Amino acid sequence: MDRRQLLKQSAFAAAAFAFSRDAFSREAEKFIVTNGGFADIIKLSSNENPHGPSPMARKAMMDAVNGSNRYPWEVTTKLRERIASQFSLTKEHVVIGAGSSELLGVVCLMAALQKGNAVAPDPTFRLWMPAARKTGLPIKLVPLTPGKVTDLQKMKEAIDANTKLVYICNPANPTGTIIPAAEVESFIKEIAPKAIILLDEAYTEFSDEPSMAKWVNDYPNLIVAKTFSKIYGMAGARAGFALAHPQTVKQLNDLQPWSNAGASAVTLAGALASLDDKPFTTFCKQENQKARSIFYAALEKAGMPYIPSHTSFVYFDSTPYGKDVRQLLESKQIIGARTFEEGTKWLRLSVGTVDEMKKVANSLAG
Ligand SMILES: Cc1ncc(COP(=O)(O)O)c(C=O)c1O
Repeated sequence: MDRRQLLKQSAFAAAAFAFSRDAFSREAEKFIVTNGGFADIIKLSSNENPHGPSPMARKAMMDAVNGSNRYPWEVTTKLRERIASQFSLTKEHVVIGAGSSELLGVVCLMAALQKGNAVAPDPTFRLWMPAARKTGLPIKLVPLTPGKVTDLQKMKEAIDANTKLVYICNPANPTGTIIPAAEVESFIKEIAPKAIILLDEAYTEFSDEPSMAKWVNDYPNLIVAKTFSKIYGMAGARAGFALAHPQTVKQLNDLQPWSNAGASAVTLAGALASLDDKPFTTFCKQENQKARSIFYAALEKAGMPYIPSHTSFVYFDSTPYGKDVRQLLESKQIIGARTFEEGTKWLRLSVGTVDEMKKVANSLAG
């Protein structure tokens, strides 16, 4: 695919995304429309992998197109087995969804059926919250620590006899902070006997901390959600999975419209191949670190404090800059800086390629 086609494709993808999501996305659409749909924009809004899908995933997806007339049961099973082996579990521990957000929704539904409340940090990844509230699961939001880290102690204090779900995103979105494995482990040990813990590990592969999936056999209330959208670069293909005790997996499967059947044959083939493309994920992690460092240096030069990130995005305070960073970047066709905390000028920007982050740096310096 040439660059023009790629831009066209990403412009269409961005436009489709804009149609269904939030105000920010409508901003993205505005850019695309005003540039005739072929804009040379740098899109740093949704923490997508700027390099993916992996070469092996691309080939597998293209090959799988011809078999799309058949239901993909075989590849679904293979993918569940392949994921399971990566975490020393069995396929009975794995639920597949069309993106991890499908599974976050299913977990909310499971918790809502138990009638109670949920506890979550604030700010955090909120996509699942409207559905949770509408299905009768009020959410207690717990502010982050002054250092903008998920406050596990305050979360424990917020949990009451009616708490059915505790959501933790680690590493955290939008701040990029991480709670060390040992602390998450002791939280799981204390809380999992009382309520479902939904541990969203969308960005773990960018960090050096391990997954908590090894605990799912000990704690049926622990559900670890993971995605092919980030390090594997398949956000548009839509595949994610959750790891849980087989008995919990059965409950989740019962709440899916068709268990493990949300992702297409093409997507599943890509997901399966991407798990074997280790050089690609290693490359993505390294490139993310290089590009992130370029952005850190630019923020330091511009006098803007930031939180060292364990993810593919950076959270920074644009207050000292004086100018409106979002507007400035948008004027250079760089979209995606946005706030998650009303009344502050903290912004999150996804980390793009090294070249893209150099353009961000030049824009901030200019
Ligand atoms: C923390 C977190 N969880 C889940 C998701 C959703 O991922 P998916 O594309 O697998 O639905 C995202 C996407 O940005 C995310 O940031």
